[in-house]
Amino acid sequence: MVVLIASVLSLKGGVGKTTVTLGLASAAQHRGVDTLLVDLDPQMNATTTVDPETAVGALGSGVDPAEDTADRRPHGSATIAEVLDDPRRKVVERAVRPSGWGDHLRVLPGSERVEAHNHPDPGSKHLARLALALSRVDPAPELVLIDCPPSLGQLTRSALVAADRAVLVTEPSLFAVTGVQRALEAVQQERTRGDLRLQPLGVVINRFRPRVSEHEYRLQELRDLFGPLVLSPVLADRSAVQQAQGAAVPIHSWPTAGAREIAHDFDALLDRLLRAGKIRRRG
Ligand SMILES: Nc1ncnc2c1ncn2[C@@H]1O[C@H](COP(=O)(O)OP(=O)(O)OP(=O)(O)O)[C@@H](O)[C@H]1O
Ligand SMILES: [Mg+2]
Repeated sequence: MVVLIASVLSLKGGVGKTTVTLGLASAAQHRGVDTLLVDLDPQMNATTTVDPETAVGALGSGVDPAEDTADRRPHGSATIAEVLDDPRRKVVERAVRPSGWGDHLRVLPGSERVEAHNHPDPGSKHLARLALALSRVDPAPELVLIDCPPSLGQLTRSALVAADRAVLVTEPSLFAVTGVQRALEAVQQERTRGDLRLQPLGVVINRFRPRVSEHEYRLQELRDLFGPLVLSPVLADRSAVQQAQGAAVPIHSWPTAGAREIAHDFDALLDRLLRAGKIRRRG
């Protein structure tokens, strides 16, 4: 089976990485594509949304996070932090869990402790640990979606080393062009360093508001500069996104017209991703 690994990243925080990861995961679950969501962000927002139980257990309550994690999550389970400490098969096995979203989505839960791996200048062995761990997930998923933290440090770089495709996310704002440029450079650097399969899938423009002239202007600017790398559809700003995330349900299950529209857009982005990987689909 071909596994396609996609890393969702941006230079800037709060632009929609987790939202895009969750939207793609929702589309994949809806379509029956076996997917693993990997939460590399110490904020653990993706884990909180797809697997609230684990996230509550792993979140600190003033206690040492390692101790807290060991005490309160299901017995014997692990998180991304333990996997990056020690990517042996048995650790990976303990970390990968079913999600609350359905049979097709599993999760490798995040941890506050993963911040310890965000070293600015890691060795190449360290950077390859995530890729190694993902190759040991059994049964292998068809699709892996990695939600990156808001920096281009070791965690994001290890996601790039593991990935076939990088999905860049930006809002249509003043600093979008420089942010996208720097993220593309990071992808390029990792490619040249490592002779990787990695390619940019493209740039997702998120929270677009039509008729807001600043947004129209920035969108045009991004299209002029990055051409076909700017992915269609552009994602609109929709309150349904926040409502579904707040309720920890997939956007495909949220019963409003706005949710249906953006769910449809995520279907189209998933199609684009799956075409890139030419992976088998179940209809
Ligand atoms: N298209 C959208 N419409 C409405 N709200 C959105 C949209 N995209 C993201 N948001 C909201 O914006 C906030 C930030 O989004 P998100 O958490 O996905 O960004 P992020 O890039 O993952 O942030 P961080 O860098 O902190 O990880 C969230 O509250 C999310 O619900
Ligand atoms: Mg996030």
